[in-house]
Order: sequence, then structure tokens, then C-alpha cells
Amino acid sequence: MVEITIVGASGYLGGELLRILVNHPEVDKIIPISRSYAGKPVSSLHRNLYRIFDENFEDLNLEKIDSDLIFFAAPPGDWFESIPGLLERGIRVITLGGKFRIQDSKIDREVYGGYENEELLRERVYGLPELYRDEIRRARFVTNPGCYPVSIILAIFPLVGFGNRLDLKRIIVNSISGTSGAGASPSEFLHHPEMCNTVKPYNVTFHRHTPEIEFILKDVFKRDIRISFTPSVGNMSRGIMSYITLFSKELDVNLSKHFNNFYKKEPFVRVIRERDENIPELGSVIGTNFCDIGVNYDNGRILILSAIDNLIKGGSGQGVQNMNLMLGFDEKSGLELIGGHP
Ligand SMILES: NC(=O)c1ccc[n+]([C@@H]2O[C@H](COP(=O)([O-])OP(=O)(O)OC[C@H]3O[C@@H](n4cnc5c(N)ncnc54)[C@H](OP(=O)(O)O)[C@@H]3O)[C@@H](O)[C@H]2O)c1
Repeated sequence: MVEITIVGASGYLGGELLRILVNHPEVDKIIPISRSYAGKPVSSLHRNLYRIFDENFEDLNLEKIDSDLIFFAAPPGDWFESIPGLLERGIRVITLGGKFRIQDSKIDREVYGGYENEELLRERVYGLPELYRDEIRRARFVTNPGCYPVSIILAIFPLVGFGNRLDLKRIIVNSISGTSGAGASPSEFLHHPEMCNTVKPYNVTFHRHTPEIEFILKDVFKRDIRISFTPSVGNMSRGIMSYITLFSKELDVNLSKHFNNFYKKEPFVRVIRERDENIPELGSVIGTNFCDIGVNYDNGRILILSAIDNLIKGGSGQGVQNMNLMLGFDEKSGLELIGGHP
């Protein structure tokens, strides 16, 4: 049995980590850290945990931590400097924010700024098990992927063997995310009356997840990749649907069958196959660690649709999947969550 610390336990991803870990068969102690709510019961904020997890939030004091693994479910900050010391003390680390996901110090500096440490950047493993499972098993320090990148990279990855027949410099991606993607802090942009009857495109010329997606796909395709990415936020609280278009020379393969074979051993990627069009349902993945993918082909155009829950496969569920691998547990432990219908 292990002890897990969560920094940022008052946030949305912190709350989802708690919800998953309270039922994890290998976890017997969770330390929930929050600077703003220290001393208050966790269930006074995360009311879904009332009588499930009635501990109090604890203040941030990383010197005191002696857990097996620590999640930083917080935006990158000064705490990043404590990671080398935590690793030296034998504590494994998973970060859920963006810093160090891109293993190139120049791009990391441009996109995220702040702390620099080449050695630590080289050590980091990108926490997407479908691509880097063996490395994650051996890792001390994992950077969890961004929510949009999970939905987009998993959708494109099965095309890795077709690289020379695709136009990899013209990949067009549109995604719609729920408002929880922006975290728990209120903002005018997401204020309910401004948001409840609309879809809002944002960061349409540059979103910080674009270099992450390109960096990881370049690593697996071993080719130059260009993504034209347009995110939007929609009037739902959670979920991401991504629409990915690629152009190819005539393909003589059944892509849907290929995707299905490609992912048949993956516990959390489901390839949706229907008679005519392959369309995943966002509602089916909400509350689960699944990524549901449907691929369609028409006259040189490949359209892949990919659905995840941004807080789970796009965040905390992905983090627990990585934790399971790092600590030698069954990869599915705590994560066999099924969505509801309707
Ligand atoms: N929301 C998503 O769908 C999603 C998905 C993937 C990745 N992410 C990334 O994951 C991180 C957390 O996301 P979130 O949505 O959970 O954000 P959130 O709801 O805003 O929560 C973040 C929490 O981190 C704590 N925090 C902030 N600055 C800190 C600091 N300097 N040191 C220690 N704790 C600090 C805050 O808690 P206290 O003030 O109480 O300490 C806050 O409640 C972000 O970097 C986000 O970009 C989010």
C-alpha cells in the first residue's frame, strides 16, 4: 500500500485525483495540500466527497512530505524547483501542468518561461502510456500531457506507418472543450451568462498546446509535422471533442479496421466502428478514462473524431494511469470507470 500527496488538491484536477484515489485498491493514505483551504475539510469544497473523504486540507510544506508519489495538480510555479530534492528523497513526481512537457529548453522557455534545469528536462518522461509505456514504468518524473494533446495525439498516432502517404504539414484540428478546462478560478470570459448559450473560439492563432502536439508527433513519426489548431470552449462543464482532418494519397486500407487492430490491447482507447460513419459520443466518455476514436475516409480526406473527459483521460485519470505504471500496479487500478447513459 502507498501514500500519495496531491498539491493543488483544491482545484478541479486535484478533486478528480481524490475521487479516483479514494477507491484505489493500492492507496491507503492521501495527503491533500491546499494553500488557500488549509485546515478546512476537503468535503466542504469537493462536496461529492462528503462522508467519503473527510480529512482536512494541509498546508504546502514539501520538506515534510514522505509519500511514495506526489502529484502537482497546480500550474507551474516555484514548487518546480523542489522536484530534484523530492526525487533525491526517493519520491516519484507527476506534474499535471504544462512545463517540461516539451523536451526542448528553447520551446519550453518560450511557451512556459520560469524554472530551467536541463538535466531534469532530459529526465522527464511524457506521460502518455499508449506511446511511452515502458519509459513511464522506469520513470521517477513524469509530465502528464495536456488535455487537447491527449485527444489529438491518440487520434493521429495509428497513422504512424502511413507517414509517407500523408501530408503531415497540413493537419487541421478543431476542438471543443468544456469550461472546466480552464480550472476553478472564475473569469469574465467563462462567467455563466456569457457562456451558457454559446461556443467561443479562442487562441485561434496560437495555443500553447500546438508545440506540444507537434513535438510529440515529430518524435513518433520521425518527420516534420505542422498542426493548424483551433480550440473553442462550449457550454458544457467537461469533455473535449476533437475534429482532425488529414489529407492523403489514395489509401487502399480499411482505416477503421486498422485503428481497431492498432488499439485492440489498449485498455483506455476504444475505436468506434459503425456501419456508415464512425462517430464517437462525447457523453459516453464523461466521467471515464476512455478516449473514444472514430476514423472516416473519403476521397483523400481522413477525418478522425476523438472524445475524452478533459479532467480524466485529459488530466487526473491519465495521471493515475501513469502512477500505476510507475509504482508497478495494474495499469487499470482505480480507473475502471464507466460513463452514464443518457
Ligand atoms: N482543467 C483541465 O482540464 C486540465 C487538464 C490537463 C492539465 N491541466 C493543467 O493542470 C494544472 C491544474 O489544473 P486545474 O484545472 O486543476 O486548475 P485549478 O482548478 O485552478 O487548480 C489548481 C490548484 O493549484 C493550486 N496552486 C496554484 N498555484 C500554486 C502554487 N504556486 N503552488 C502550489 N499550489 C498552487 C491552487 O490551490 P491552492 O491555492 O488552494 O493551493 C489551485 O486550486 C494547470 O496547470 C492546468 O493547465 C488542466
